[in-house]
Amino acid sequence: MSAQKEPFGQTTDGRQIDLYTLTNTNGLRARITNYGAILVSLEVPDRDGNLGDITLGFDALDGYLGEHPYFGATVGRYANRIGKARFVLNGVEYKLAANNDENHLHGGVKGFDKVVWKLEDLKSESNKAVVKLSYISEDGEEGYPGNLACSVTYTLTKDDELQFSYEAQTDKTTVINLTNHSYWNLAGQGDILGHELTLNAEKYTVVDAGLIPTGENQSVKDTPMDFTLPMSIGSRIEQVEGGYDHNYVLNSGDGSLALAAKVYEPTSGRVMEIYTTEPGIQFYTGNFLDGSLTGKAGKIYNKHYGFCLETQHFPDSPNKPEFPPVVLLPGQKYSTETAHKFYTR
Ligand code: GLA
Repeated sequence: MSAQKEPFGQTTDGRQIDLYTLTNTNGLRARITNYGAILVSLEVPDRDGNLGDITLGFDALDGYLGEHPYFGATVGRYANRIGKARFVLNGVEYKLAANNDENHLHGGVKGFDKVVWKLEDLKSESNKAVVKLSYISEDGEEGYPGNLACSVTYTLTKDDELQFSYEAQTDKTTVINLTNHSYWNLAGQGDILGHELTLNAEKYTVVDAGLIPTGENQSVKDTPMDFTLPMSIGSRIEQVEGGYDHNYVLNSGDGSLALAAKVYEPTSGRVMEIYTTEPGIQFYTGNFLDGSLTGKAGKIYNKHYGFCLETQHFPDSPNKPEFPPVVLLPGQKYSTETAHKFYTR
């Protein structure tokens, strides 16, 4: 196991950015930067033992400093959408940036994906390699109340798991929903329509035209939304207007670390399982990728060339009292866990 640090460049205002490389004894390699606490790459073997990078992104920091759709990013203070970019807490209305038509998306104009995180810990032990990054989001940042001290810890284990742990504390009542926005492609190239997906979810949150939940949770049964049994992503995608971009209600939902999703890619044999303590998972099929971005090794990212499975609380929960709560009180500790397990078959 090893954990190493090297320079990755500078921000436009001259701040030093680093790249951390976690490697395990089977050769799995995760690279993370303190810019946006972004997962830059994850290399895992295929069934013949050949390593391949299974995430979308860029070779150099410059790509991440420019416009891009949250490749690999840590997203906060509130991942996903908040309707009409406002919510009320204790009778006070908080107004957020409307950066997705009239709605708020992924923490605002300058979310956690675009800030410089501080290195707290970088270490390797006999069974894991770890990098811990922290960030203090000030009271009023992007419209949110409370100074929020948060951290994300990436742990690569000797058993081929990449774990994401999030922690936070606030000094004023606030809302929080942290996730990772990696785009996966287990073949390492081409579109993701042939990947087989299983989701441990019998329901999803129905959304309006702006992708804000209506409050209704609908059964997936007998619809193209059903992934309770393995199904290729592309088999029914044409029947879903715009492609998949939906929050699934996980069956577990009791806060324990439970299996949420499993993805198998037949040509490489790679399998990815996702375990989470979160109640929901956003399944997004890269519908807005349009070939305008050139990523790693000159690859053009066309529509459906990557998919996201963002473990999370439900979109617009601050305005939906019926959804699992996202309020964090002073003195409380926010703590969530997601783990991606890799193997081949
Ligand atoms: C999320 C959203 C999508 C889209 C992408 C970023 O996953 O659900 O609608 O905004 O982020 O392009």
